[in-house]
Amino acid sequence: MALTAPAARPVNPRFSSGPCAKIPGFSLDMLSDAPLGRSHRAAVGKAKLKEAIDLTRDILNVPAEYRIGIVPASDTGAVEMALWSLLGARPVEMLAWESFGEGWVTDVVKQLKLDATVRKAPYGGIVDLATVDFARDVVFTWNGTTSGVRVPDGDAIPADRAGLTICDATSAAFAMDLPWDKLDVVTFSWQKVLGGEGGHGVLILSPRAVERLESYTPAWPLPKIFRMTKGGKLIEGIFQGETINTPSMLCVEDYLVALKWAQSIGGLPALIARSEANAAAIRDFIADKDWIADLAADPATASCTSVCLKFTDPRITDGAAFAKAVAKRLEKEGVALDAGAYRDAPPGLRIWCGATVETADVQALMPWIEYAFLAGVEALAQAA
Ligand SMILES: Cc1ncc(COP(=O)(O)O)c(C=O)c1O
Repeated sequence: MALTAPAARPVNPRFSSGPCAKIPGFSLDMLSDAPLGRSHRAAVGKAKLKEAIDLTRDILNVPAEYRIGIVPASDTGAVEMALWSLLGARPVEMLAWESFGEGWVTDVVKQLKLDATVRKAPYGGIVDLATVDFARDVVFTWNGTTSGVRVPDGDAIPADRAGLTICDATSAAFAMDLPWDKLDVVTFSWQKVLGGEGGHGVLILSPRAVERLESYTPAWPLPKIFRMTKGGKLIEGIFQGETINTPSMLCVEDYLVALKWAQSIGGLPALIARSEANAAAIRDFIADKDWIADLAADPATASCTSVCLKFTDPRITDGAAFAKAVAKRLEKEGVALDAGAYRDAPPGLRIWCGATVETADVQALMPWIEYAFLAGVEALAQAA
């Protein structure tokens, strides 16, 4: 029996989990105010960088006493700066529930050679935060981009903790509420929920994190791009737009355009609502299907940005090959680009549902996933 392809297609087939879809209506003309060919240390450049910091604070409700810095090397750069600058002063707990969190474990255990307590949950689950000792420094990822799970809230983190909480929030920031009083370091990059460009990281520090920076010197050397203090004092300029090295003013302009779009639609509540609606469109679709399921085991910790799906049909014998073929078919049809699961994650699909994605596009994609699944199963039958 010939399969019939769905009639409607997503207008924008970009469902990649990073770089993610640009803001609705984006065009390069929107970047015409970028001060290209000018020094980032000229007044115009510094003003742009400061505006990016100020709008970030405004939209994310970052407390006035927290520092916000634009740093090199995207989210990875921001996390590495924090790990290498802050850890070693007290015992450390590393929490991981997917590949990026595992990467931070490797860094801390194998590179910094710290005797950290490591707590891991399998893909689809999350470490029970009630078991964590927050008297230690705790490193974790708020949203597991490659597993589709997130920390539900900060309730398990004591406000009066002795350790620092260092949180990689790159696929959470701008789509989830972050409890600032429970977080000492928050990092993210621009290419996720706001659809910005890669290469630049944002590093947010609580007063306690700054206190650690000013009172503790790690036993290992720090390269220039990690250094946040001079003579035992925080280099405040970094957190006012005087970046450590040269940023791309085109990317800064692009971030500003995205931030202003975010403000124009209603700020953080509107961004969260868009992301939640996108994720709900997927979960509504799969709810009554027995051939596909959420990789996230518990709806309470299921992500609203990186929704990861697995195929559960018993006729599938090689899960990785099947999922790859489905993702390839979706791409070939031009209905979903970059929708395959992350290379280290269990086989399946990963549909980015951040705020720049339109819910109508997610809805339009769903019948195509069913179509590609059925085509895959038919191919299996023919090959048998
Ligand atoms: C949770 C998480 N951490 C870190 C990274 C790395 O981010 P970047 O490439 O911006 O350094 C990613 C990228 O997808 C991520 O999802």
